[in-house]
Amino acid sequence: MLTRRRFLTRATAASAAVLAPRAGLAQDDAPRVLRAAASRAQIAPPGYPETALWTFDGSLPGPELRFMQGDRLRLDVVNDIPQPTSVHWHGIRIDNAMDGVPGLTQRPIAPGETFAYDFALPDAGTYWYHSHAQSVEQVERGLYGPLIVEEPDAPEVDADIVLLLDDIRLDQGGEVAEPFDSGFDRSHAGRIGNVVLTNGQTAFSQEVRQGDRLRLRLINAANARIFELGLQGLDAMVVALDGMPLAAPEPAAERLVLAPAQRIDLIADVIAGNGEDAFVIHYDRDGGYAQATFPVSAGTAAARAPVSALPPNPDFPITLAGARTATLLMEGGAMRGLSGAMFNGERRDGRSLAEAGMFWALNGVVGRTVTPLIEAALGETVRIGMANDTAFAHAMHLHGMHFSEVRADGSLGPLRDTLLMAPGETREIAFTAHNPGDWLLHCHMLSHHAAGMGTFVRVT
Ligand code: C2O
Ligand code: CU
Repeated sequence: MLTRRRFLTRATAASAAVLAPRAGLAQDDAPRVLRAAASRAQIAPPGYPETALWTFDGSLPGPELRFMQGDRLRLDVVNDIPQPTSVHWHGIRIDNAMDGVPGLTQRPIAPGETFAYDFALPDAGTYWYHSHAQSVEQVERGLYGPLIVEEPDAPEVDADIVLLLDDIRLDQGGEVAEPFDSGFDRSHAGRIGNVVLTNGQTAFSQEVRQGDRLRLRLINAANARIFELGLQGLDAMVVALDGMPLAAPEPAAERLVLAPAQRIDLIADVIAGNGEDAFVIHYDRDGGYAQATFPVSAGTAAARAPVSALPPNPDFPITLAGARTATLLMEGGAMRGLSGAMFNGERRDGRSLAEAGMFWALNGVVGRTVTPLIEAALGETVRIGMANDTAFAHAMHLHGMHFSEVRADGSLGPLRDTLLMAPGETREIAFTAHNPGDWLLHCHMLSHHAAGMGTFVRVT
């Protein structure tokens, strides 16, 4: 129903609306309030009415929370929506009790109730926060926002720009389409939207100057869409993935893949000329679209110093030898199905699971919540070999600790908290169990998680 401006035929220049910098919440001693409540916003293209949403503090995305590495985040989350909720601080090396997972780390926050989140921010980087209760619906309706932790010695840039990407499925009337529990979405690629947003807008635009050095923080908050992105008029280096600095910056590839929940930090020099536009492009089946537009005005265009690595976060070296190991077999979904699996402690056949809306199993268990996939002592290294025996991609996210991929040659990949697994792939991750608690390991295609794709690891 809703069409987007074609990138290649951008006849109408992006509306010159420059996003006023959102008021970040500055840190001081008083706890602040973050209120989940109904609000409305014009997210559908002109001609459609405003859309009813659930948001934090009345804005989509929620307020940009910006702190300094080493600060404490203290926020009272007030639940003014008609469902229980919770907030997960995605990617933060957090105290387990503050991780925001109902049924695992806290009781859900009932409507009308408040929960005081209070935790340290030990790592710098690009993170985000989102509802972790009925998330298929609550994240879709808008309960998410950026969480930025600055390095005390951050690289100097002319602008630090958060690009929070999302897609949302609207119906013909411009409202968030129901239902949220469609068996089709749950058993296929998840809930893919028909309106693509950057920072809550279909035509996000921000003015820059020729020669500016930008820090672009890309975050994928979509329920299930895997964004394939490109750059135009920007000369960019990737400096961090999922919040964690790369040991050495790498030139941005032609196509950048951003799975649900993943982040990429770029340092990008504006090489487009005065009067031109630079772009972040979103490649879809039918072409390229402007995901973000940067109208360029006159600037210095002076040669810039090479991009250097971000200061590293505290390190938890991974020792593969003698590691504790587990395997994780991912099964189910359309095309393959489940012949049967354990669900709520009972053996159920595929048909009865489908009737209950359950389509996925990890190691033959649907939505494991009682016994962990693996238990490790603090400081041990854990290796998990994962096999995707389904016809769909999955964005596997581990809470509480970042992992590295163990590559085929035994070398370790960059630290990440979410790994995109293509159909048929077998990959292995490893991490040091440095954070005690029960940590969810689940697919961030939110309909998949709701349909059984979750387990957890225990660090004691
Ligand atoms: Cu982004 Cu289980 O979370
Ligand atoms: Cu999945």
